[in-house]
Amino acid sequence: MTQPLTIALSKGRILDDTLPLLAEAGIHPAEDIKKSRKLIFDTNHDHIKLIVQRAVDVPTYVEYGAADLGIAGKDVLLEYGSDNLCEPLDLNIATCRLMTAAMKDAEMPQGRLKVATKFVNVAKRYFAEQGRQVDIIKLYGGMELAPIMNLADMIVDIVDTGNTLKANGLEARDLIAPVSSRLVASRAAMKVKHAQIQPIIELMAAAVERQK
Ligand code: ADP
Ligand code: PRP
Ligand code: MG
Repeated sequence: MTQPLTIALSKGRILDDTLPLLAEAGIHPAEDIKKSRKLIFDTNHDHIKLIVQRAVDVPTYVEYGAADLGIAGKDVLLEYGSDNLCEPLDLNIATCRLMTAAMKDAEMPQGRLKVATKFVNVAKRYFAEQGRQVDIIKLYGGMELAPIMNLADMIVDIVDTGNTLKANGLEARDLIAPVSSRLVASRAAMKVKHAQIQPIIELMAAAVERQK
């Protein structure tokens, strides 16, 4: 019998794009993931299980080997920042950009910049590379509110259509990184479970090609 294999899916926005891609790859959950309260699902493949969790938790499951493969946004992977993970495939779904943004036409202070974000590590690294002194203020969502309320001068957040920025009187400033969701594996699993993981990567890669 083929060894069991678990794929960790990110719920929320990424799941909407993941389910059609899995279907294209011939992997069908045994029940409707979006309608169920369950967090673990059998599939039409006896050896493949899917688990569903918050996007930020996917790298943790994969790094510690609790899942063999994961699907996570590049933003989350940059923030998680582990050398033990690799990205065997760009799934080209949930595409957006990690950017800095500020109130429209606002001038930035000369001294320390207050930056609100949930991407604390990404922001620290980015502003350090720019040689800019910053105070990072950790938030968990709705970053666009921070400059309006004078909590911060700038934010680091995801931008897609730009509608959220515009609706709140902000503008995008600099691109930090383009974002799409990636298939992620641990370097250890890529070696030890290569025979199980490689066929899934190939199925998914063919599905990505067909969706282009
Ligand atoms: P969270 O509650 O963690 O913000 P989301 O359901 O918003 O969860 O999805 C988070 C992931 O989806 C991000 O890591 C990113 O890769 C992607 N994403 C977030 N916002 C957008 C967006 N506006 N457009 C496209 N992809 C997005
Ligand atoms: C995400 C992101 C931005 C918005 C960008 O928020 O944090 O606020 O989408 O998309 P847009 O450029 O198309 O407007 P989300 O809706 O996921 O809310 P959250 O703060 O709960 O993550
Ligand atoms: Mg979100």
